[in-house]
Amino acid sequence: MFNLSESSLHLITERLHSCGWCVVDDALPAEAALALAAHAAALPNEALHRAGVGRAGQHQTLDTLRRDHIVWLDEQCMPDDIWLGAMTQLQQHLNQQLYLGLQMYEAHYARYQPGDFYGRHVDAFKGQSNRVVSTVLYLNGNWPVDNSAGGELVLYTHEASHHIKPVLARLVVFLSEGLPHEVLPAARTRHSIAGWFRAGG
Ligand code: OGA
Ligand code: MN
Repeated sequence: MFNLSESSLHLITERLHSCGWCVVDDALPAEAALALAAHAAALPNEALHRAGVGRAGQHQTLDTLRRDHIVWLDEQCMPDDIWLGAMTQLQQHLNQQLYLGLQMYEAHYARYQPGDFYGRHVDAFKGQSNRVVSTVLYLNGNWPVDNSAGGELVLYTHEASHHIKPVLARLVVFLSEGLPHEVLPAARTRHSIAGWFRAGG
């Protein structure tokens, strides 16, 4: 188990409040990041399934929108509990500081193989979903500093587009409603944990 540092908690709270998104580097201790990265990389392809798009009942896989493969984290399993524990702490902090009323957190590992992408989308539509805050933790050691590996997250804010490389132990947190984003085609295998805090029903 580990806790997010006080400075990370402060940064996330302050930035969510002021502009709705933030990037935290070295969000977790190296051993924890490496344990999660090793676990994600070792997941057999058979353990992962195609991610769907849309809510229950209209579940569909859209080759044109997203091509990653996922598996949900399980709090009973190591090392998933490391990450879920840290997110429980973040949930409490955000509720105390920003009164977001977050009630639960769900997260999945995602594997993007070369050529995989996730086109521009929002994680929650106003009035339709109870996803309030999105998180993405990246699990890729030695990700190239140039653009040769693709796989960047692009966040589209009112002012600009922000390109974020999926480097090990980097955490991106943003408000789920109304912040369009996409994952550019990856040129090498790319691992992450994407998660959502929910409020209400
Ligand atoms: C998602 C998502 C971003 C990323 O899974 O909804 O937007 O960088 N992921 O993996
Ligand atoms: Mn998303």
